[in-house]
Amino acid sequence: MKNQNQPGLKSYSPYSKTEENCFIEGDSGLIYSGVRIENISFPLTISAVQAAVCSCLANGDKPVKLFQQKPFSDLSDYWKKLFGLEINRDCPPYGHFFNPIISSPDDIKKALNDLCRKAVTIHSGFPVSALLFTSEGWVAGVNVEVASWSLGLCAERVAISRAFSAGYSTFKELHVYAPKSEFCSPCGACRQVMNECMPGKTVVLHHQNQTLTRHFTEHLLPYGFSSDILKNT
Ligand code: THU
Repeated sequence: MKNQNQPGLKSYSPYSKTEENCFIEGDSGLIYSGVRIENISFPLTISAVQAAVCSCLANGDKPVKLFQQKPFSDLSDYWKKLFGLEINRDCPPYGHFFNPIISSPDDIKKALNDLCRKAVTIHSGFPVSALLFTSEGWVAGVNVEVASWSLGLCAERVAISRAFSAGYSTFKELHVYAPKSEFCSPCGACRQVMNECMPGKTVVLHHQNQTLTRHFTEHLLPYGFSSDILKNT
């Protein structure tokens, strides 16, 4: 049984060539898709379960059920235990899928500011929001912290993984805002992921004093390690 609304899941796995996808059902009944998104810096790879769980949490929802046929993602036991997920290995889910595309914001700064309310900051109390302009429209992200500090995702990577998980991989511009930071500055991990997923594209950083700065992804990661290097081997 194939659900008509089911997104076409396709991992970004150029290195391992491993196709990995899943769905998380939230307490609300909404279904969140997740795909594997690899990075040339391998520990920054986002597993399908991590992508789907973080998308769910970033929507104020609680993960309750995991649909995944094969193979199970890295650390999937962690996610199963953390939320007591019910597992379904056989059938794909049927229901309403979370649509990551939001309507075009009239005022990007205001939209970023409003979005911060959705940030899940159980450790840091430091909200961050991101708006990714894709070929299909705008995708929102907020930072999501979970019990294990290293397994949460920054706002930028929630937006990027939501877009991939919905089948969109052409990114035009990424806006970021961190209201508690005088000068908004993405972390090293996000710079690496942006460099991989949107090379040559623009990142717009919105600062506290209402100014913004625009940067090419490669300028945010000078002398970065990129997949081009592998082409010479
Ligand atoms: N954070 C982001 O969301 N994006 C960044 O680029 C920097 C850091 C989040 C991660 C964590 O939830 C909190 O800010 C503090 O590091």
